[in-house]
Amino acid sequence: MSMKRTPEPELMLDDAQVRAYADADFEEPHSHFMALLADRLGTSGPTGWALDLGCGAGDISRRFAAAYPGWRIDGVDGSATMLAVARDLTPADTSIRYRETLLPAPAPERRYDLIFSNSLLHHLADPGVLWATIRDWSNDRCRIFVMDLLRPADRKTAHALVEQYAAGEPDVLRHDFLHSLLAAYTDAEIRAQVRTARLPLRVEIVSDRHVVAWGDVG
Ligand SMILES: C[S@@+](CC[C@H](N)C(=O)[O-])C[C@H]1O[C@@H](n2cnc3c(N)ncnc32)[C@H](O)[C@@H]1O
Repeated sequence: MSMKRTPEPELMLDDAQVRAYADADFEEPHSHFMALLADRLGTSGPTGWALDLGCGAGDISRRFAAAYPGWRIDGVDGSATMLAVARDLTPADTSIRYRETLLPAPAPERRYDLIFSNSLLHHLADPGVLWATIRDWSNDRCRIFVMDLLRPADRKTAHALVEQYAAGEPDVLRHDFLHSLLAAYTDAEIRAQVRTARLPLRVEIVSDRHVVAWGDVG
């Protein structure tokens, strides 16, 4: 039996929490995200419209913009506090637009060629919101790449992961990391979610604390 999920608040609104998140060193997991996205999806064409769901302070959006200069990127998040930091950290000549949107929300007129998301799923009380957004906001060529935390087997393992990966971080970040691990979904739960949403995505565990779901919408 796996440990029961303990939900955490959806939006990250608190100033200290947002500042700690934006200042944290996510080099390892975020470069892993970019490498896996390239490996699983290959090159998705020289240009297109990409969507970063739950973009937060925008680190993944900016990495994508730097790696794929022909693409336009919409970064969507429900937290104005996060988006203010994202805008501060993004150069003026950017290909990224940030949009404050609380999901679920109606699909925009323009559908996307690529949708990616990092660490949004575990925030959602109803995980179906992410998969329905992906289905409704994608065009028929759209490629999908979602990465999130994986709920550990028990609290002891969750605490050990915090010690291993966030030993020197501020308390607010360690607290958030622990609660995010406890709120995360298992790979089996994610497989069931994508099946229910009728999305033909593959679900793979890619590290001791991360899982990805990826593939084509059509
Ligand atoms: C852990 S952060 C991840 C940020 C970013 N993707 C990254 O990898 O650094 C999760 C983000 O999802 C946002 N979020 C949570 N629930 C949301 C919802 N229902 N609608 C829009 N954004 C949401 C939070 O405000 C937060 O900025």
